[in-house]
Amino acid sequence: MDGKARVKHNTMKQDNYNFAFDVYDSSDELDSQDAWLLREARGVTESAYAPYSNFNVGAVAKLANGEIVAGTNQENASYPVGLCAERVLLSSAATLYPNVAIETMAISYNNINGVSDHPISPCGICRQSLSEYEERMKTPIRLILSGMEGRVIIIAKSSLLLPLSFGSDDLK
Ligand code: THU
Repeated sequence: MDGKARVKHNTMKQDNYNFAFDVYDSSDELDSQDAWLLREARGVTESAYAPYSNFNVGAVAKLANGEIVAGTNQENASYPVGLCAERVLLSSAATLYPNVAIETMAISYNNINGVSDHPISPCGICRQSLSEYEERMKTPIRLILSGMEGRVIIIAKSSLLLPLSFGSDDLK
């Protein structure tokens, strides 16, 4: 200690963040629309271009106008150039159906050298992109997350995955 008096601040508060999500043992427990969307996401992993990671990701979304849009990860020999399935999907949806909200997105993956039996959730960059899309369309994006088999997680809106996020309001 330097011997100087310390000013005591008593204004500190603790806050906390938590959210609930649904967990199913398998896709057999989903309603038929969700099961269909997840099946499509599992199927579209075949279209991934992931020769470097051998981790094929597929995302399929249902839009508010009923259209279905898909995305897969697209890698590059220059590794950082690669794109995640989620952001490929968001770019396609925004281009093909501008100003149409995404209602539900199913995300799956096929890990060619490993197991694909548990849900993965979007990476940090994709969480930021998903949050912007929600904000832009003023509609929550419901996420269905699962591997090729096993447990399924359903999250009511993607921005729940990004607490204390930076967004357009911060730029005002
Ligand atoms: N990847 C996705 O496409 N989505 C995710 O949610 C996680 C990761 C891709 C990026 C890269 O091509 C490969 O998976 C391995 O990280």
